[in-house]
Amino acid sequence: MKIISSINEKGGTGKTTSTREIAGVLKKKNKILLIDCDYQANLTSSFLLEADKTIVNVINGEDINECITPIEKNVDIICGSISARDLEENLSWVTKKEFFLKNALENLKEKYDYILIDCRPDMRLLEKNALASSDLVITPIEPHNYSLDGFDILEQFLYAVKPILKENLNHVGYFSRVAIGKAPREVIKGSDTAYNNILDSFIRHNVKLQECSLVGKFIIDYAPRSNGSLDFKKLVEELKTKKYI
Ligand SMILES: Nc1ncnc2c1ncn2[C@@H]1O[C@H](COP(=O)(O)OP(=O)(O)OP(=O)(O)O)[C@@H](O)[C@H]1O
Ligand SMILES: [Mg+2]
Repeated sequence: MKIISSINEKGGTGKTTSTREIAGVLKKKNKILLIDCDYQANLTSSFLLEADKTIVNVINGEDINECITPIEKNVDIICGSISARDLEENLSWVTKKEFFLKNALENLKEKYDYILIDCRPDMRLLEKNALASSDLVITPIEPHNYSLDGFDILEQFLYAVKPILKENLNHVGYFSRVAIGKAPREVIKGSDTAYNNILDSFIRHNVKLQECSLVGKFIIDYAPRSNGSLDFKKLVEELKTKKYI
């Protein structure tokens, strides 16, 4: 089982879209669990769902198996909830609370091939729980000005917390919502070669990615030949080839 978290402290870069569409590519041959750690619950609502039992129940120690909602064959979700916003304050006196999700996921090892966790643009309790659980952090980056500032800061943060939260944690970034023809990786290559963990693959701006989440479908089923579908397939292929997943 591999656990992947989508994290960027910057908002609106494509974290939720990446979580759902990478799952969409992987679901053909694997059993997938999605986890919505964002209290705005965009991932949950993108499948037109809401649930009584959510991530809040998991963190509060209930049986994780009872907090799982099926989406379709091979894909389940632990839904998000607005009440997750209060978890940090409610658990402020509890120690080791960063590991609650990791401990709960131990019970699902036999059940899923991949778990994909969607995080809000923040670094609070649920994001730390996601980090402590993960094998890989993926960071979609906005291509504006090809700025890697946010990615840089996240890299430094991960480096600092790795010994505390998760020793063997990989991190990759890729450009998302790219509106121009030229591969952004090529543009930054010339100016900065330090970023070996920026993928060659990138996600083009594609309106079908917005449409499919309005009707609760994965892009790969909704518009299989769209740029969005092709780009996420390529991205998953690169992650596999480079043995990140
Ligand atoms: N490649 C793309 N092409 C077109 N629209 C996209 C693309 N990626 C994401 N979007 C759209 O942009 C908006 C923001 O994307 P998304 O919700 O995935 O970002 P996010 O990083 O999860 O945001 P937040 O930080 O608020 O959680 C959504 O409406 C989504 O449908
Ligand atoms: Mg999101």
